[in-house]
Amino acid sequence: MSYQTVKGTYDLLPDQMARFNMLEEMFRHFLDLYGYSEIKTPVFEYTGVFKKENDTSDMVTKEMYTFSVNDKDSLTLRPEGTAGVIRSFVEHKLYADPEMPIKLGYIEEMFRHENPQKGRQRQFTQMGIECIGDKDPLIDAEVIALGYFYVKTLGLSSIKVLINTLGDNESRLRYKDDLTAYFKDYEDELCFDCKNRLYKNPLRILDCKIDHDKECVKNAPSMKLTDEAAEYFEKVKHYLDVMEIPYTVDDRLVRGLDYYTDTVFEVVSTNEASGSQATIFGGGRYDNLVKEMGGPEISGIGFAIGVERLAILAEAEGIFNIEKSIDAYVINLNEEKDYVLSIAEELRNNSYITEMDYYGRSLKAQFRSSDRKKARFVLIVGEDEVKNNTVTLKDTLTKAQESVDREELVDRMDQLMEDYYE
Ligand code: HAM
Repeated sequence: MSYQTVKGTYDLLPDQMARFNMLEEMFRHFLDLYGYSEIKTPVFEYTGVFKKENDTSDMVTKEMYTFSVNDKDSLTLRPEGTAGVIRSFVEHKLYADPEMPIKLGYIEEMFRHENPQKGRQRQFTQMGIECIGDKDPLIDAEVIALGYFYVKTLGLSSIKVLINTLGDNESRLRYKDDLTAYFKDYEDELCFDCKNRLYKNPLRILDCKIDHDKECVKNAPSMKLTDEAAEYFEKVKHYLDVMEIPYTVDDRLVRGLDYYTDTVFEVVSTNEASGSQATIFGGGRYDNLVKEMGGPEISGIGFAIGVERLAILAEAEGIFNIEKSIDAYVINLNEEKDYVLSIAEELRNNSYITEMDYYGRSLKAQFRSSDRKKARFVLIVGEDEVKNNTVTLKDTLTKAQESVDREELVDRMDQLMEDYYE
């Protein structure tokens, strides 16, 4: 029996937790700014929610935590957010809402059985959005904008936006045939996985981690877009230009999941601290997923940010500046504790973050604790204070110390706070 975390999982200790909270709070702010509402779907779903017929993605074919209990239905731990959100969108008929598109955001744990390394875990957190309902280049650009301006507002600078189009159904089907025909001549040169992809999803050969540097991949034909798909992509780029979002078109960007159509994008880190896991977030449009999951024929687009990868980059760029402090520390120099307890509770009721001594330690030890906790006010309660119904109040910013009537304590602290910020 080993009392350690399972490989690929990790504990978030308080310091890291504070950092994650900061990233997540800012993300929630961006959900509000762009009119998204938060949703939470179950951690596990019927396997079919994630696994579609002929799926070729690594995530579905190799990395899912799939199980059944008592030989009942096959269940899978959520490996990504989109499929669960779409399942929920269809199950609850959210498409009946006259106000389209439906904009949903989520912050959830995901599970993939990958080889763990820095920035790649088996349990990780994604912050994502899905905008479902209408298909318009303006929506694609706005979805990219939400993610881009979120990371910029955090203060990150070493990032790059990559975009591409996988075309509409017509251009993509034609391209798949072109690629299969082309790669058939190079079948022997392809890795084991790409040999499988050749007939099922040849697009994935283009971004294969093993094959992507081979000459045959570099020289593969590019997609010939239908006029409609080309115009759509031009408009997406135009709107990104209007918002002054810098981007690079990367015609080898195909993304790892099977459901994408038209616009796809990734935001990658250019900071070496990110190592080989440089993709901070990725997403794209999916024309067919809602219908495949039993809903009407409507399109959606979204992305998901890997919080762990974002935290690695944020740490490397030194944007975390989280100083924990408290408002008040109550020092008690008496045996009895009722008096300080009632003071601490009154302060908390008045929104002052308050801690106190529990053990009756020496004055010096208690002052040391208040210093460590960076208390703005130190309240000292000795025998005299209890007898006279007072508190000795020390303002650690001005260093001033005074005796305050117990009943007037909160008013006096409010006053000192006000004076200081004036
Ligand atoms: P994805 O590219 O598979 O897309 O994952 C999105 C992000 O999740 C990645 O860019 C990465 O930051 C993070 N991530 C993925 N796997 C791991 C891992 N093993 N450890 C740590 N972080 C990881 C999706 O999941 C799509 N559902 C995104 C989307 C939403 N597309 C449309 N809507």
